[in-house]
Amino acid sequence: MNLPIRPRRNRRTAAIRDLVRETELTPAHLIYPLFHHAGLDDQDIASMPGCKRWSLAGLVKEAGEAHALGIPAVVLFPAIAESLKTRTAEEAWNDGGLVPQAIKALKAAHPTLLVITDVALDPYNSDGHDGLVSDDGIIMNDETVDALCKQALCHARAGADIVSPSDMMDGRVSALRDGLDVQGFTDVSILSYTAKYASAFYGPFRGALDSEPKAGDKKTYQMDYANAREAEREAIIDEAEGADMMMVKPAGAYLDVIYRLRQMTTLPIAAYQVSGEYLMIKSAASSGWLDEKKIVLETLTAIRRAGADMILTYFAKDVALSYGK
Ligand code: PBG
Repeated sequence: MNLPIRPRRNRRTAAIRDLVRETELTPAHLIYPLFHHAGLDDQDIASMPGCKRWSLAGLVKEAGEAHALGIPAVVLFPAIAESLKTRTAEEAWNDGGLVPQAIKALKAAHPTLLVITDVALDPYNSDGHDGLVSDDGIIMNDETVDALCKQALCHARAGADIVSPSDMMDGRVSALRDGLDVQGFTDVSILSYTAKYASAFYGPFRGALDSEPKAGDKKTYQMDYANAREAEREAIIDEAEGADMMMVKPAGAYLDVIYRLRQMTTLPIAAYQVSGEYLMIKSAASSGWLDEKKIVLETLTAIRRAGADMILTYFAKDVALSYGK
């Protein structure tokens, strides 16, 4: 054939392919979500094989190992004892609680590690919702935002670097920013879950924390998975309210949303490869027919290619362990 244009020339050898590779994935792009509890043992999580509910000591050790491998940040998810859960979720801003203890221990042991905290009431709320629930079953927006401010301030006092509201209440970013600034926490960043979808992909996570809603679903606050334009609307609002970074969640089934936000904001974008995405890869790999490591690198690189600057993934430490090998 007389073909002057042959794209395969750019794919001819590994060296050429390295030169023309468009997307990089390194441990520096990863945020490691960690579960922890008040007990002294590191517990296996039935719904998330390979993940643990860490004791405080286990958490500090695991985070330190990940950080030593080049992972800059962890995000904390506490499993709160049933006896501490109430309809008003006060445990969420107990300065002596599980999350403040963990933040302090992590920052003391690993000063350069970024500690991100989840701001939402579901681990603390006996109703299992991210917001406060009224007697007639309504998720109360403005009352919840007040509670989230108390929670975020509690995390800031303990030394959190970044607070990350995952609740999807209206007006929470500006309320958190105001609340933090008034108390002098102008350096604490807000990573907002801008487009968090009401997703069946969160199933294994709720198993890990025993945080399934007791009644109803999360569709009056989390977004309908059929919508992408609505994510742009949330992004405009979050940017105006002062978010430092935005998040899209889940990640793999929402690459178009990541791409759309990438086109319209100059803010950094995070994407969360959630528990169901993790479990699907783990279970499929256990069949022997999918290569776990290759699938993990392909899915995470695709999320980066779509436009995510950083990725929250339960595979973070595995990726870092094999990076460059
Ligand atoms: C709750 C929260 C959820 C996740 C992170 N924060 C679950 C939910 O909204 O029900 C899910 C993470 C995952 O599935 O890996 N605020």
